[in-house]
Amino acid sequence: MTLGTRERIGLLTSGGDAPGLNAVIRAVVKAASGLGWEVLGIEDGFEGLLGSKAYRVLTNADVQGLLSRGGTILRTTNKGHFGARQLTTPPAEDPYVQAVEAMRELGLRALITIGGEGTQRIALELYKLGAPIIGVPKTIDNDLAGTDRTFGFDTALQVATDAIDRLHTTAASHNRVMVLEVMGRHTGWIALHAGLAGGADIILIPEIPFDAEVIAEKVRHREENGSSFSIVVVAEGARPRGGSEMYLAEGRLGGIGHFVGDAIHQRTLKETRVVVLGHIQRGGSPSPYDRLLSTRYGAAAVKAAADGVFGEMVSLRSDEITTVPLAEATGHLKMVRPHSDLVVSARSLGVSFGDRR
Ligand code: F6P
Repeated sequence: MTLGTRERIGLLTSGGDAPGLNAVIRAVVKAASGLGWEVLGIEDGFEGLLGSKAYRVLTNADVQGLLSRGGTILRTTNKGHFGARQLTTPPAEDPYVQAVEAMRELGLRALITIGGEGTQRIALELYKLGAPIIGVPKTIDNDLAGTDRTFGFDTALQVATDAIDRLHTTAASHNRVMVLEVMGRHTGWIALHAGLAGGADIILIPEIPFDAEVIAEKVRHREENGSSFSIVVVAEGARPRGGSEMYLAEGRLGGIGHFVGDAIHQRTLKETRVVVLGHIQRGGSPSPYDRLLSTRYGAAAVKAAADGVFGEMVSLRSDEITTVPLAEATGHLKMVRPHSDLVVSARSLGVSFGDRR
């Protein structure tokens, strides 16, 4: 591909997809073209910077209609060749060194890396090697530190809340216990927010290990007080007290919903059904909130490139867009605080977190 002579920036999407990725791409292209810059869309995450490289020029025409479209037109990969950097690797074989070299060859004034913690960790490593990086925070899990919100979370929340609403009516009709397993590998943001928004009776999150007997007591207690059905929302990374998170045979996280469902049935003999919501939470059109946040993030990332602000991630703080050092966004996750007002409020309404206090 022949590249033009204009000022040029690159952007890529990396890690699990999330609704709003395309909206960020659209915002970056429109804002950059307003400055007269060319935008290179690097394909398949950081992998597109390796070997013969995979990228394409993105014009305003390419991003038409993208605001509401789920997924990412640039495709994405989980880490790929970019595992933890081994300092013993010779430079010629080091994917990090190769990626920085590729950015130089492509003449990128900046590289915008749209992704979660894993992505921003790779981005920070590239920045340390001299690459002009600007991060954009994405993940439906909302667990990225350094920002109040990641885009994708609001849409996932809507999908999960809708599922709880639907489970409510069928649970009540059959006097059943319904267990909904939602995403949240390390943190319980989706389970907590959707559980509260959907009026769940029991919410199980990784930050508060549960006791199956306490869950059964809550179901029995509801029964004794005239509610013959119960709704349980469990984050995929939740775990029993003294235990660890659960994995499917193929080594992927999963199975906790069925574990909880079986435990409830064995202890209460109530008819119990389990629903695993899975990737439905990640697909489809972004909510208005996520479209807006993605748009603001995309515009802010181009402004950072214009201002020469590198090694930073755009971030939402008290409803204002700002930037934070990439180091602040990586190395640890934003967890649900067990004494936060959300948890305390939920408990005051009688929601059980499966723990004995
Ligand atoms: O990190 C986001 C997330 O949605 C997690 O909650 C989930 O465990 C993971 O992605 C699943 O990703 P994949 O199926 O792409 O490996």
